[in-house]
Parts: sequence; C-alpha cells; structure tokens
Amino acid sequence: MRNTSWKQPELSAAGNNNIINLAAVNGAEEERLLTPDAELNRVLGGGIVPGSLVLVGGEPGIGKSTLFLQNALLLTHITTLYISGEESAQQIKMRADRLKIQNDQFFLLTETSTQTIFQEIKKLRPQLVIVDSIQTLQSPFIEAAPGSVSQIRETTAEMQRFAKETHTPVFLIGHITKDGAIAGPKILEHMVDTVLQFEGDQHYAYRILRTIKNRFGSTAELGIYEMTGQGLRQVTNPSEILISQREDQLSGIAIAATMEGMRPMLVEVQALVTQSVYGTPQRTATGFDLRRLQLLLAVLEKRGGFHFGVKDVFLNIAGGIRVEDPAIDLAVLCALLSSYEDVAIAGNICFAGEVGLSGEIRAVNRIEQRIAEAEKLGFEKIFISRYNKKGGHTGKFDIEVVPVGRVEEVYRQLF
Ligand code: TYD
Ligand code: MG
Repeated sequence: MRNTSWKQPELSAAGNNNIINLAAVNGAEEERLLTPDAELNRVLGGGIVPGSLVLVGGEPGIGKSTLFLQNALLLTHITTLYISGEESAQQIKMRADRLKIQNDQFFLLTETSTQTIFQEIKKLRPQLVIVDSIQTLQSPFIEAAPGSVSQIRETTAEMQRFAKETHTPVFLIGHITKDGAIAGPKILEHMVDTVLQFEGDQHYAYRILRTIKNRFGSTAELGIYEMTGQGLRQVTNPSEILISQREDQLSGIAIAATMEGMRPMLVEVQALVTQSVYGTPQRTATGFDLRRLQLLLAVLEKRGGFHFGVKDVFLNIAGGIRVEDPAIDLAVLCALLSSYEDVAIAGNICFAGEVGLSGEIRAVNRIEQRIAEAEKLGFEKIFISRYNKKGGHTGKFDIEVVPVGRVEEVYRQLF
C-alpha cells in the first residue's frame, strides 16, 4: 500500500494552545506510512504514524545507522532528511553504496545545531526526518555540552514540537551503554511516542528490534534481522537459523520453544559445566539473565541434590540473541543437567516451561503456538508443564507432548 494521502507538512505559525472541541477532532486513525521493511512496520504497530517521535536505542556499532539509512533509502516515494552529527557525507555515501540503493528523494545534512537544522528543514520540507544521533545535537538556547542531560532534553523537546506541529515523523537514534544503563536516551522515554531498542551481539549476525514503549501499538512486537555485507536482511523464519544444525549429538544442548513478542521461536541453549579450578566457581550467562541462572542452579542444588557449587557454569543462547521469556527455564535447566551428566539430549526434543523455586514446572502462555511451531520444525517430542496440559487443547498435535510437574520427573525421563 502506497500512501497517496501522505501530506506535505506545514510549519504552523499559529499557537498550538488554542482550546479545541474534542467532538470536532477527527477520530479516524491517521494513515500510516508503510516502509518496505515488514519487521520495522510491525514493531511500530503497523507503519510510521504521522507526527510521531520515535527513539531508537542501541549499543554503538550494533547497526542503528545502517537500519535507518537503509530504510530511508528504500522509501523512494517520500522526501527524507537524514541528519548526521556522527559521520561525514563521504562516510554515509560509502555506506549507501554498500547497500546498493538509489534514491533521489533522500537528503543528507551533516549538522548538529538545531537552529541550522530547522532552517534547512523549512527549506526542504521533508516528510520524514531521521536524527543520528540525539547525543550530537546542540540547541543554541542551552549552554550545556552536546550529549549532556539538559542538552538532550532540550533538543528532543524541539524535535517533538516540530513533529507535532508539522505532522512529520521524526526518528531519534540514541546510543546506550553496554550494561543497559541508558545514560542518555533513558531520560527521554517519557517524551517520545515510541521507544525501539536494537540489540544483539556484535560478534553474531543476528539483531533484534524490540518495542519498549508504543503509544500506537503493542510492546510485544519484535523484528529480527541478519547483518550481511549489504546491510540488514529481514529474517522471516527465525527458528531455522537459531538452531545450529549438527550431525552428532553433544551434551549441554537443549532447545527451548520460546515466544518473542507474538512469534514462536525455537532457540538453542548451550551449557558447559566443568570442575572449578579456582576457589570461587564462575557463572557466566550470555543472552540469559545471570541472576536467573543462579536461581536455577540453586533449585537444582537444593531440590535435585546436584553439586553445582563446585562447578564452573557457562550458559549461552545460540545466535547472540537475548531471551526474556520465562518458558526458556526448562531448556536451560535441561542443558545444565545434560552437561553435568555429560549425556546428550536427543535432537528431536524441545522444552517449554518455567521453573519455580521449589522445582515445579510452571505453565507458560501460548502453549499451543509453541507446540505447533515445534511440530512444524520437525521436533518429535516437547516437554511442557502438566498445568498447561490441564487447561489447553494439547492433544490435537502429532508431536508427542510430555507433561511434567517437577524437575526430578524431567531428569528421570531424560537421563
Ligand atoms: P552501524 O550502523 O554504524 O552501527 P551504529 O549506528 O549502531 O553504531 O553499523 C556498524 C557495523 O555494521 C559495522 O561494524 C559494519 C557493519 N556493517 C555490515 O556488516 N554490513 C553493512 O552493509 C554495513 C553498512 C555495516
Ligand atoms: Mg551510527
């Protein structure tokens, strides 16, 4: 769908504090601008909303500039202004060449002063504005240095005013730090309509675009990409790539049937449990919450009598993605046990269950969707909570559904 009614924005001179009659406001949902990127449209709740202010956070080097340059270049039917305070025109040109996209409606401005930026915007009248990054902007009305809290607040407020007055959507790219303490952009979350987070591990190709906040849609949405030599590629079937294909069965591996947003996704959990050589055993988790790992180890120690206290434990989610769905617990636990016992779990088995403090396997949401995805991908057996079995219609599948109530039961069935 192309947006024919996508209007040229007007910079209104009139004050915007006039009293209006709510009944007179056009309540029809405004037509959204669809990008050629289905993943981006999805995380935005169905395309770009006119006049919306969207903050995109992510660690440096993860691919934020690439994603938005690529999308802006693909939007050939509207005028886009890409404001870069980080890279030179030559650098951006080189990147655009690498992406191999031509677009004569795409304009670049390498500028950091908002005063100059708004002068240029008045001349060009772009229909979409991308700011890369908010930390580089500088308002002449504020003394503080670019990147400081007051400067970020002021420049965002100016961009917000511009977006609302002209109905021009504005994307603000912001860097966040490794430990998640979003020094700059975090303070902006309440000022913007939508917050997206671009995440992934730089050593892997997969990237996830997550909705953190959205005034115009669900926050359960998620887009998946792969970084290639020619930019980011949309990944439409994530399960197939997140499970490493291998011939021989290795110990320490278990597959989890997770949900990322509204999409079922099978991911591979890899655990390595070894004798600790130093006094304090090491615990490392990549893509999984470390405290959650420690909790699961405590459950195994206390309820199962396994002596993880003298072992180093390394846990990794394949593909460099991060999983927050609690249904991954059971697979994490089984991967740990598999490595502990050095017994491989058959490759046709997967898991979906949350683990409680007393070692009980708890029910998870959308169990039917998880089972269906596992079946679709050729798994022959899935372990789920017996509390899921009670309520759901889990009997209609060809895949064998094994309900379990406690950690010990799973252990007995597998090892
Ligand atoms: P970039 O978009 O600059 O990240 P950010 O804006 O979040 O800091 O992406 C940087 C990385 O992406 C860089 O290491 C090079 C890599 N890259 C590719 O692998 N393929 C490509 O086509 C492009 C443009 C970049
Ligand atoms: Mg960048």
